Amino acid sequence: MNIVFLADVYGKPGRALVIDHIDKLKDKYSPDFFIVNGENLADGKGLTEKTTKPLFDAGVSAITSGNHLWDRYESHDYLQSENRIIKPLNYPQGAVGNPTLRLQNNKEVLIVICLTGQMFMSACDSPYGAMDAFLQNNEFKSIPILVDFHAESTAEKRAFAHMFDGKVSTIIGTHTHIQTADEEILPFGTGYITDAGMTGPHDSVIGVKKHLIIEKMRTGMPVRYEVANTGLQINGVFIEIDSSTGLTVNIERIREFIE
Ligand SMILES: [Fe+2]
Ligand SMILES: [Fe+2]
Repeated sequence: MNIVFLADVYGKPGRALVIDHIDKLKDKYSPDFFIVNGENLADGKGLTEKTTKPLFDAGVSAITSGNHLWDRYESHDYLQSENRIIKPLNYPQGAVGNPTLRLQNNKEVLIVICLTGQMFMSACDSPYGAMDAFLQNNEFKSIPILVDFHAESTAEKRAFAHMFDGKVSTIIGTHTHIQTADEEILPFGTGYITDAGMTGPHDSVIGVKKHLIIEKMRTGMPVRYEVANTGLQINGVFIEIDSSTGLTVNIERIREFIE
């Protein structure tokens, strides 16, 4: 089974990158499923029906998320009703949204979940405990599982990956918006990358106009964030999973410079 996963799609420039390039990426990688992390779709903070619908219409199969998922209060009802948007599994039960998605086409099936880290992040339950409980109660045994592990700490991500090596198909790190060059297949067959990067404007500080963040860092004063619009890149990974074993046989970084 082939999967394309694009990391944190940032604001309007990121959305346009997906919509304008999805057909080309599909021609190149023939994905069974095309997944994006969408926690930053709406001006960098959260997502809305207006910012997700065009992506689904363009052929995105599922949208994973992270700490910014709920930033748009007006979207909470929508999150409850659109099961293709996946909330982190290890947030408290009251957090709105769907924590697990089963994707299926005419030949492949895939379970998609996401989790957030605990280090340098908003409070959430243990991703280790949540993943363990999920695997123990997994009603979809023997179906390949893709995990978006949305976390800041490299150590937390790598420890998680080794703990669940061989138990899930692929673990893709997101959240830092900076792609790491450590894509690999772990000893027991799980595909892994510490961070898949950001699909959006890289001539920025992780998506925001540079001068605003410099001002914030320099003075300690809050600033109103504005989405940058230059240095556009498509970042993510292409994954091939052997459906009979559920293990990854190939993981490649996607890093395309658009302008
Ligand atoms: Fe993000
Ligand atoms: Fe995040």
